[in-house]
Amino acid sequence: MMRLRLNWIAFVVLVGSVTCLGLTGCRGSVSSRPPIHLNPNMDNQAYLQPQEPSSFFRDKRGMRPLVKGTVARGFLRADEHFYAGKVKGKYVKTLPKQIKLTKALLARGQERYNIYCAPCHGFQGDGKGVVTYYSRAINPANLHDDLRRSHPPGKIYDLIANGKMSGKQIAMPSYRSQLSVKDRWAVVAYVRALQLTRYPVAALKKGQK
Ligand code: HEC
Repeated sequence: MMRLRLNWIAFVVLVGSVTCLGLTGCRGSVSSRPPIHLNPNMDNQAYLQPQEPSSFFRDKRGMRPLVKGTVARGFLRADEHFYAGKVKGKYVKTLPKQIKLTKALLARGQERYNIYCAPCHGFQGDGKGVVTYYSRAINPANLHDDLRRSHPPGKIYDLIANGKMSGKQIAMPSYRSQLSVKDRWAVVAYVRALQLTRYPVAALKKGQK
C-alpha cells in the first residue's frame, strides 16, 4: 500500500515538472525559423515594391507605365477655391460651392473648433485658451480683433490647412491631418459666426459675409 502511494507521488511530480518545463522552457528564445502557420491561405505571396526592378518584364521595371493617354480623374485637387481657399492666388471671400451654410455646418464647425482650436484660442475665440494659463510662450491670436475680423474666409481656411510660422518657429500648427477639407470650411464658418457674436452691427453695416 505504502509503495503504491510513493509511486503515485513520484509520477505526479514527474508529470508536473515536465509540464512546467514544457510551458516555460522555450519562452523568449529566438528562432530563425518562421512560426508555424497552420492555414496559410494566400497570406504570403511574392510582390514588388514601387520602383523595384523585376526580371519578369522585358524592360526590367516592376511598375508598369501608364497606358498612353491616361488622364487623372478626381485626385488632382484642381478646384482651388475648395482645396486651397484661393482663386488665382487670392484668398476667396466666399464659401466654395460644395459647402452650404447651414445650421448643421455650423454645428460641425463648432464641435471641431472646440476640439482643435479652443485649447489655444478659447471657446469664445478671444485668444485666452487653456494653454495660456500654463505657458506664456504661446500667444494665440484674439480672433475678434480688427485684423482677424478682416481676414477673408480663404485666409482662415489657409491658416487651418497650413498653420503659421513665426520666423523659424511654428506659431500655429497645421490642422490638415486632423480636419478634412469639408471640416476646415465648417470651422471657417464657425469662426466667422463667433466673430459676428461680438460685432453684429458693424458686420451688418459692412455687408460682411
Ligand atoms: C497650439 C495653439 C493653437 C491652436 C490649437 C490653434 N491656433 Fe490659431 N494661432 C495660434 C497662435 C500662437 C497664433 C498667432 C500667430 C501669429 O500671428 O503670430 C494663431 C493665429 C491664428 C489666426 C490669425 C492668424 C493671422 O495671421 O492673423 C487665426 C485666424 C487662427 N489662429 C485660427 C485658428 C483655428 C481656426 C484653429 C483650429 C483649427 C487654430 N487657430 C488652432 C495658436 C493656435
